[in-house]
Amino acid sequence: MVQSTEEGMQSFEELVRHYSHSCLWWLGPWCPIMRLFHPEAIKPVLQASVAVAPKDPLFYGFLKPWLGEGLLLSNGQRWGWHWRMLTLAFHFDILKPYVKIFNQSTDIMHAKWRRLVLSGSPSLDICEQMGLMTLDSLQKCIFSHHSDGQEKPSNYILELLNLVVRRHQQLLHHLDCIYYLMADGQRFQQVCSIVHCFTADVVQQRRLTLGHVGREAWLQAKQGKTMDFIDVLLLAKDQDGQELSDEDIMAEADTFMFGGHDTTASGLSWVLYNLVCLPEYQQQCREEIQELVKDKALEELEWEDLSQMPFTTMCIKESLRLHPPIIAVSRRCTEDIQLSNGCVIPKGACR
Ligand code: HEM
Repeated sequence: MVQSTEEGMQSFEELVRHYSHSCLWWLGPWCPIMRLFHPEAIKPVLQASVAVAPKDPLFYGFLKPWLGEGLLLSNGQRWGWHWRMLTLAFHFDILKPYVKIFNQSTDIMHAKWRRLVLSGSPSLDICEQMGLMTLDSLQKCIFSHHSDGQEKPSNYILELLNLVVRRHQQLLHHLDCIYYLMADGQRFQQVCSIVHCFTADVVQQRRLTLGHVGREAWLQAKQGKTMDFIDVLLLAKDQDGQELSDEDIMAEADTFMFGGHDTTASGLSWVLYNLVCLPEYQQQCREEIQELVKDKALEELEWEDLSQMPFTTMCIKESLRLHPPIIAVSRRCTEDIQLSNGCVIPKGACR
């Protein structure tokens, strides 16, 4: 197992340098894991249909008690239906007002940094700061929950994430019957239930209000206002008029909190790190942004500006390429898949 440390990353890099195409690992004597490194090696697996290369239950399964059957953990027809419902529900008009929310959360973070500098604090942990900021943004976009989370952090999402990573690294903890007897397993259950109670409470309250006022009046009241993720999913219907259940909505809300939090925090931290290392590029980004906000009273980026910052966008993309927040995805093939070098991933093997 790759350790979630700098040494772990270095040993992983070494592995990729050594076996540049792919290699085979055994998890105990019974579970073969094909590791595919080269884009040409990964291509046939990513191009295979969801039915042939579904997500691997071993790799993702520990997230199930937390995330339920949201997009990340579902497969087959359920995944397809949720995917269509979410795609239909999220057009750009829904997403546009979220930029204001990102500005608010970033302002809170910047104000905190200014205070830290004034108080003479010599350093800050940028990943932690970014994590609190992205969590704050997600809570506002998903639940319209405006907490004091950046000032008084209680980061249950990050705690769950760390517990899942730790569980992966301890083979004995892979067995439910052992894990849930251990302190980590019990804490995982406890924090899952705190997070679920919060999500269930928001969804049920919102469903109740929607039931009282009715769909049309609800939509009228929301005109010109920001619809959060829960609103959008409560109102979503497919071609046959079928709606998502409370459980479906809760699973998607928890999944998006999980999917969007640490990934963006890590990506943003690396962007800043790379720009610090390359002051010329940093200056070019600064000038590009200053040009965009120079005539605005609030000096804030708006939705339309996001497509007008080509250099900054290139820097973000290059940073994501150099330091991807997610370094692996995992699939378990239900049919043999042939790789470009002629090797075959046999049915049932993970990758
Ligand atoms: C830099 C930021 C991000 C990175 C690097 C990233 C990376 C990924 C990757 C690699 C997957 C594929 C997992 C797999 O197929 O096994 C994925 C899936 C997913 N991500 Fe992200 N993600 C980012 C941001 C976000 C955000 C902001 C959200 C939501 C707010 C999000 C929600 C999801 C969801 C729901 C899935 C499951 C999609 C599906 O299976 O259909 N991600 N992400």
